[in-house]
Amino acid sequence: MARSIARTEVEALTPAQASKELARLGKEIVRHDFLYYRDSAPEITDAEYDALRRRLESIEARFPELRRADSPSERVGAPPQTASGKASGFAKVTHAVPMLSLRNAFNEGEVAEFLASVRNFLGLETAAEVAVTAEPKIDGVSVSLRYEAGELAVGATRGDGREGEDITANLRRIGDIPLRLAGANPPAVLEARGEVHMRRDEFFAFNERQEAAGEKQFANPRNATSGSLRQLDAEVTARRPLRFLAYGWGEVSDAGWGGETQMERLEALRACGFAVAEEVKVCRDLDEMLAAYSALEEARGRLAYEVDGMVYKVNRLDWQGRLGALSRAPRWAIAHKLAAEEAESLVEEIVVQVGRTGALTPVARLRPVFVGGVMVSHATLHNEDEIARKDVRVGDVVVVRRAGEVIPQIVSVVMEKRPADARPFAFPQTCPECGAPAAREVDEASGDESAARRCVAGLTCPAQALERLAHFVSRDAFDIEGLGRRHLKEFFDEGLLRHPDDIFTLQERDAGALAKRDGWGKKSAENLFAAIDARREISLERFLFALGIRHIGAATARLLALHYGSLGRLRTALESIVFEQGAPCGSAWDDLTAIDGMSSIVAAPLVSFFAGADNRAVVERMLAAGVRVSDAEAPAGDSPLHGKTVVFTGRLDSLSRAEAKARAQQLGMRVVGAVSRGVDFVVAGEDSGSKLKKARELEVEVVDEAEWLRRSGS
Ligand code: IVH
Repeated sequence: MARSIARTEVEALTPAQASKELARLGKEIVRHDFLYYRDSAPEITDAEYDALRRRLESIEARFPELRRADSPSERVGAPPQTASGKASGFAKVTHAVPMLSLRNAFNEGEVAEFLASVRNFLGLETAAEVAVTAEPKIDGVSVSLRYEAGELAVGATRGDGREGEDITANLRRIGDIPLRLAGANPPAVLEARGEVHMRRDEFFAFNERQEAAGEKQFANPRNATSGSLRQLDAEVTARRPLRFLAYGWGEVSDAGWGGETQMERLEALRACGFAVAEEVKVCRDLDEMLAAYSALEEARGRLAYEVDGMVYKVNRLDWQGRLGALSRAPRWAIAHKLAAEEAESLVEEIVVQVGRTGALTPVARLRPVFVGGVMVSHATLHNEDEIARKDVRVGDVVVVRRAGEVIPQIVSVVMEKRPADARPFAFPQTCPECGAPAAREVDEASGDESAARRCVAGLTCPAQALERLAHFVSRDAFDIEGLGRRHLKEFFDEGLLRHPDDIFTLQERDAGALAKRDGWGKKSAENLFAAIDARREISLERFLFALGIRHIGAATARLLALHYGSLGRLRTALESIVFEQGAPCGSAWDDLTAIDGMSSIVAAPLVSFFAGADNRAVVERMLAAGVRVSDAEAPAGDSPLHGKTVVFTGRLDSLSRAEAKARAQQLGMRVVGAVSRGVDFVVAGEDSGSKLKKARELEVEVVDEAEWLRRSGS
């Protein structure tokens, strides 16, 4: 009903009435834009606002010739276009007045120095008052908005300060950037400068929408802002929750415009229709500046937007003029930076995750909080000793710190805020995933307990088994494409994939079932099988790494591969290790632990792995399923010693044992620690003992140091 009256009215309008009505509606809509975007205090509902816009648009449709240059309808549907009319990339704009940056102060002393240098430069007494504005330094993207005869003509990025990019079309679509300056008699040219940014809450909501739509999410509001401004299609920019806060100006044609101080000019910008940070205030001395800084520090987490410091600017414009600028930054301003961010949050839960090797890792699930520019909802607690040391309890308020890209840490508990019923965290003594006992290993020699508590179930623990599978197919291991964690979990839960060897029988067990699954098809099933087939042949070092044995990283796997040369030799050696009172010993053990870069700590889990019947069965089944482990090639070389195996024993005179071994390896030899029939010769130095005896028994060739030097060409 209301719509039809409106339509009748529009149709009945004379051109003169229409023109008046367009002016009225335009002003009204702009006023509501300000109320909504700048003041966050709308007076009308969205539906009423939409009705105003529709009415304006229908009048414009009937009288296109009456459409005003500053019409709010310009904000929607404007084609992507730059000042130069180029549709791709952005044209360059030279700033009439360079866009400078700021020097930084990191402590009170540097702020005091700044004040002193201003006084010094201006020739003022030490006690003379130098009033400054204190303005929050908003973490967004700075832009310059050029108004000619009150109309937004060009909007540009800072670029290198001298020349930026013309993003006028995008800036026109930001709700709180006025297309026309408010108030009577604006200067012929006015460049307003300020920061385009996203408010935190709007950023989160935006990111959620992006996620729901399967679109790119952003790490922080600043990235989201700059990404949104760089859109070639202004329609995209228009849908982003961007805002603008003015903090300065560039060219102003009327020198008398806006008063004689920084603060007055900020007020003048407000009067023109720009939003200016609420928190801006004038400080008369260092104490007031530092108090403003502390207040900002304290309020940081509650502010609508991200800030990374406080900017102090000499308030008197005549002084700003005299002080002028250094090459890139004005002498009249400085940014007092806020420290690396810490925030308080609530520990909602402590969850214990089980890793590939069974280690139980406690993680605090936090009420989401913004720290150091990103949203944090988890922090690692490392292990049970760490929880006990910091006495972190569920329900505690904790200080969370995030520096760089590292996992967020819990700094401390805010004891005053501890709820009366908070109980110390009882670290599980059993595996939270499979219920098997979780134990801390005790170092035989020192009697110390290991930091980590481990689930003893090994591969029968589903969490460990799944983590192991994920490791098995990862990049430095079998590198099987198309078996992401999601698919692994799905296949694991259904019993399709339990052990690594199952991967290689997937196709023969499949019988076309995979192609019919949700989210799969013939092509993707074929791709997966092809990816698996492509990896049936694998190098010994990758194979060893893929097994996911504790302490056997890529580098150690390589050492082992070079040392033993083939999977067969490695298995024979490991399986021949004997145990006395539970401890490994014998020549094969000595040989293993004698490898440069190995130690008994690293070697023990390897030996246990190959001593385990289940693990041996997995390896057997893999080989049976057609996995071929290629022999490790010793570095190529033409030395007659290449491929030979040597044992060093006793003290050498002219070189260290380590150097001798390195030389042997360089020649492509295998250096082992124990004498066996497989050894080509033994180099015996002074005081050789049992190894020399053994060599004689086994009739292995023995050479002295001089002969070794001759053979190795050292
Ligand atoms: S004044 C000539 N004031 O900080 C002075 N800058 O590090 C130029 N910024 O490029 C800047 N809030 O992007 C000024 N209240 C504020 C600011 C501010 C944020 C940004 C701006 C500038 C950068 C300098």
